[in-house]
Amino acid sequence: MVRGMRNTVSAADLSVYREDFPGLRATMHGKALTFLDSAASAQKPEVVLSAMDSVLREGYANIHRGLYEISQNLTADFEAVRGKVARFIGAPAAGEIVFTRNATEAINLVAQSWGKTYLCAGDEIVLTEMEHHANIVPWQILRDQIGLTIRVLPVDDDGELILDQLGDILGPRTRLVSFTYVSNALGTVNPVGEIVRRVKAYNPDIVTLVDASQGVVHRRIDVSALGTDFLVFTGHKLYGPTGIGVLYGRKMLLESMPPYQGGGDMIESVSFERTTFKSPPQRFEAGTPPIVEVIGLGAAIDYVWSLGLSDIESWESRLLAIGTNALESIEGLRLYGRARDKASILSFTIDGIHPGDLGMILDQCGVAVRVGHHCCMPLMRRLGLDATCRASLALYSNEDDINNLVTGLHKAIRLLA
Ligand SMILES: Cc1ncc(COP(=O)(O)O)c(C=O)c1O
Repeated sequence: MVRGMRNTVSAADLSVYREDFPGLRATMHGKALTFLDSAASAQKPEVVLSAMDSVLREGYANIHRGLYEISQNLTADFEAVRGKVARFIGAPAAGEIVFTRNATEAINLVAQSWGKTYLCAGDEIVLTEMEHHANIVPWQILRDQIGLTIRVLPVDDDGELILDQLGDILGPRTRLVSFTYVSNALGTVNPVGEIVRRVKAYNPDIVTLVDASQGVVHRRIDVSALGTDFLVFTGHKLYGPTGIGVLYGRKMLLESMPPYQGGGDMIESVSFERTTFKSPPQRFEAGTPPIVEVIGLGAAIDYVWSLGLSDIESWESRLLAIGTNALESIEGLRLYGRARDKASILSFTIDGIHPGDLGMILDQCGVAVRVGHHCCMPLMRRLGLDATCRASLALYSNEDDINNLVTGLHKAIRLLA
């Protein structure tokens, strides 16, 4: 058994639910699709498609402002999803859930609203070496606006955070620690609760933000138990639509923050002299919200709930073990990311073959993988790489997907090595 991998032999085979995902019936180059790029964006179950379709066909209107029945019904459905998201991540109140365009926008919101208001020149924020660019660039923009220092917690050769260095990196000027739950490039699952506990033990006033864009797909999340101040995720990786993301923020923090964008739906009253704003979450949701996408996200959460997060985790970790063993049997293949707790992501290179060429051969075989830096250039640099080939598994993945990947890799080796 591979380091850190749990014994999950008895996991229920969730790939029986593949039929729920019409996107998996697509073909590539005339071949049946082997979809191994769910970490970039997951396929959508029929229930998500039909929930969105029926909003548009059977009672569509703008929300929050209409006095007529279909607007009021859709407003109620939209707000019910806010409550559902709160329950899904263990947030105490629906009012702590802000709908955004995606995780990227949620992080930018925190940086430009909370960060710009409460941080000043000389303050420090801590990120980690495994962050997606979405959790680096917004802080660099803020740094350049106000003169912050960014400090970085490193990763070791197995792709785990070197937590022993956290104590040296935190300091009297640290104001924020922002880090990912799961590495999208390596699959490392970070001990989020422990990190938050260590940060708060050092100084309870340091604000924490967890990027759960991958975490929410593979692990059950409870923001109350984790004790984090902010948490963000994006809908399209959770089997929901694109165009919808979530920011969870503690009530007191959200209430202390100014708007991120201005416009309709977020104001109490407007005159040319002065505008007053609604309370959170509406204060942060300027303009017509992504109504149809929110309904789709609600359906995706219901779907994931109906299958059970712990069953999804067990099935995916069983497949991860099978995939790891299969890839390790390929000569010249190097796997990156050997964390003790790992989500279903397999990142690798093959000696003598550029990952881009691997991706092209796999494409011809009908196998969709992601090739590149995975929006994690600092992590790639740390590993001494330009790019890897990344196969990511989802609840609908099965052993055939892994076999097709392995067959495609052998073909690439025959042709290119
Ligand atoms: C860990 C992580 N954070 C943030 C993002 C950004 O998500 P989005 O582009 O939906 O904002 C991604 C997407 O790949 C991710 O994997």
